[in-house]
Amino acid sequence: MNYKMGGMNYSFADSIQDLRTSEIRDLMSLAARPDVISFAGGMPNNHYFPLDEVDRIMAELPLDMKQKAFQYGPTPGLPFLIDAVKDYLGSKGLPVDENEILITTGSLQAINIIAKAFVDPGDVIITENPCFIGAISAFRSYRADIRPVEMDEEGIIPDKLEQAIDEAGDRLKFIYLTPFFHNPAGTLYSQDRKQYIMDLVKNRNIVLLEDDAYGELWFDEDAKKRVKPMKAILGDDSKVCYVGSFSKIFGPGMRLGWMLVPRGIYQKCELIKQSMDACSPSFTQVLAHQFVTSGKLYDYIDDVRKKYRQSRDIMVDSLKRYMPEEIEWQIPQGGFYIWFKMPGDIDATEVLKPCLNAGAVFVIGKTFDPDGVKNNCFRLSYSNAPVDKIDEGIRIIADNIRAFL
Ligand SMILES: Cc1ncc(COP(=O)(O)O)c(C=O)c1O
Repeated sequence: MNYKMGGMNYSFADSIQDLRTSEIRDLMSLAARPDVISFAGGMPNNHYFPLDEVDRIMAELPLDMKQKAFQYGPTPGLPFLIDAVKDYLGSKGLPVDENEILITTGSLQAINIIAKAFVDPGDVIITENPCFIGAISAFRSYRADIRPVEMDEEGIIPDKLEQAIDEAGDRLKFIYLTPFFHNPAGTLYSQDRKQYIMDLVKNRNIVLLEDDAYGELWFDEDAKKRVKPMKAILGDDSKVCYVGSFSKIFGPGMRLGWMLVPRGIYQKCELIKQSMDACSPSFTQVLAHQFVTSGKLYDYIDDVRKKYRQSRDIMVDSLKRYMPEEIEWQIPQGGFYIWFKMPGDIDATEVLKPCLNAGAVFVIGKTFDPDGVKNNCFRLSYSNAPVDKIDEGIRIIADNIRAFL
């Protein structure tokens, strides 16, 4: 692939051919205006990070741990953090003794490594539609043939999934699912749908990549019962690759995640990670270890659950007040997101423009569609919006949508 850039001729790799920037970036540059209320960013709230706790950890760190924090570490992760993550995942019922843990630089790296381990150009990965944008980019970078499958309120739709599996044949490498408070759909998989997926991957011997970035952030008892990972239910004999992260339960700036995978897959992934970055940041691994083993992690999760639930409640109240009834959406039982479906002929990009001018911003649906087509949907995130601005922002968006109906 040849490009001319500033008079130079670069011959870039075919593998980056499918990576594209989106028009949304240009629009979003406007969203940086300080008066704009942003429901766009899918990130934790700046005001909720456990800063005091990190100060305390830093102040009390023994000398040898400080030195470890500054040093390179082993590729799989610092052994004491692996043990701490093992206990943490074990407490969720995950089969930690029968699998291996690899500490990664965010769970996006775990997703990336697993894709690299499995995918040759043209191989098929089945995803949900919509799908987490980071995973779409990672899969594209290995030139995967991404086959998105529609979701309903219970999760990925079974007969469409089976059709996609049949069509993929032996080019199918794995299915990628985010069953707990999906990004962007907000969906929490029903027990029935989880059971269906588990039966399917077992009977048809399919690798499943289970992404559990938000599972801790449940808001009610019903949701709490439903966030048990499929890998935990299936136990040790499954081909499930489970990935998770400290990003939503400590801070994304830590850049720490993990994969829990069968030994055979782990061995390949460790080699891949070695070639990527040798090790994840020792500094934040040391912090995370202290945060988990002191038990503060659990107090912190309890605290942010309540705060995000409060933001969800405020947004839902405003939506009930202002959003036209033609717009479909569901109350999320956890996580950061609400997904909206407008009548088919309304283009979310066209709605976004007047919203931006009026001072509120969201992410348009096609950003999350691997085919980049479907655009009558959009995502609002309540996680990082100022609580006292949510109502005003929702009113702006609802008013502007009404003009398109
Ligand atoms: C569904 C999902 N998976 C994975 C990630 C990656 O998170 P990180 O790399 O920060 O662990 C995100 C981040 O927003 C996400 O939404």
